[in-house]
Amino acid sequence: MWSGFEALIPYFGGKRSLCPAIFKEIGRVIPQADWQDCTLVDGFTGGGAVSLYAKAQGMRVISNDLADRSRIVIDSLIVNDRVTLSEEDLARLFVGSTSSAFVEQNFVPAMFMRKHAQFLDQALGAVDAIEHRTKAQLLRLALVKYMLKITPYSQIHSVNYFQSLEDEEYHRLGRSRTKKIPYTCMPAIRILQEARAQINRAVFPNGQINEARQMDVFQCLDEVQADICYLDPPYAGAQPYEVFYGVLDQILERRRFEPKVSDFNSQDAKRFLQQLLEAARKFRVVVLSYGSQRYSFEEFQQAVQAVEPAARCYPLNFRYAFTRKSDAESVRKELLAVITR
Ligand SMILES: C[S@@+](CC[C@H](N)C(=O)[O-])C[C@H]1O[C@@H](n2cnc3c(N)ncnc32)[C@H](O)[C@@H]1O
Repeated sequence: MWSGFEALIPYFGGKRSLCPAIFKEIGRVIPQADWQDCTLVDGFTGGGAVSLYAKAQGMRVISNDLADRSRIVIDSLIVNDRVTLSEEDLARLFVGSTSSAFVEQNFVPAMFMRKHAQFLDQALGAVDAIEHRTKAQLLRLALVKYMLKITPYSQIHSVNYFQSLEDEEYHRLGRSRTKKIPYTCMPAIRILQEARAQINRAVFPNGQINEARQMDVFQCLDEVQADICYLDPPYAGAQPYEVFYGVLDQILERRRFEPKVSDFNSQDAKRFLQQLLEAARKFRVVVLSYGSQRYSFEEFQQAVQAVEPAARCYPLNFRYAFTRKSDAESVRKELLAVITR
């Protein structure tokens, strides 16, 4: 897979491996030679895979997502095309007095060991004092990568993991979680140095002025002008992003709050999906990807074609490409709809 993706955070539902298929569809309508004259809007940027890939293809990119966790990626790697992180920048995370003990007070021992929490409180406070917005966002990106690196399955809801480590009860961890122990025990600087190298390799200009948006997708689609619209909404039946990333989101804002779940996860998900397609009518190419958790391929196709009768829909072997071929359910995991005008 393309090495630029290493700069991104491992994102729930991220579409790194779907990029070749998405851009092949775009290439059927707009030849690759013309991509540098095109703008792609990514309505739900998430971890940034599709936006970064589009940027690398030379397209102008407008990346939108409601979440701060995504805005950090967008500012660092999509909009930014020259600012990188130096060793000195990393050193700034380790100096200065801690103004808040938010992580330590709220997430120890459930989500982190005390030493991690104290470092995070110190480092996030140090980043807040940095006036250069892009540097600050790059450092936040490095810190998010750090948090996900030290936790099992790259998720910050590792119940009992850190407590079991503190108590030296390694037998409680199970084999897959023990894989993270070297990172959990490693000095923060070593993990951050690796993150810095990965991030810096993915900072590049593409001859365009790429833009960030942080708003509801409907407002974004209404405001922007673009040729290509990529839509990857949260899926009905899947865990809401605001819950999955609840702890991370609270750490980034340094306050406790109840997650406000996206409309796309609601019981009315199909209606929102159809409204989304209506809102995307002004774009020449629309690519929509969707998970098959709640709706079968047939239901998805019916919902899409009720709004866009000429849409081409098909299931893709995506994450479960290595499962048994006979097991139809396990291979039909990602649904794609392509609309062209
Ligand atoms: C399936 S993920 C996108 C994954 C992304 N394509 C990637 O490759 O990483 C969906 C994203 O939609 C965002 N989101 C949810 N509701 C939204 C809304 N109403 N407007 C904009 N973004 C929203 C979530 O924060 C989440 O990052």
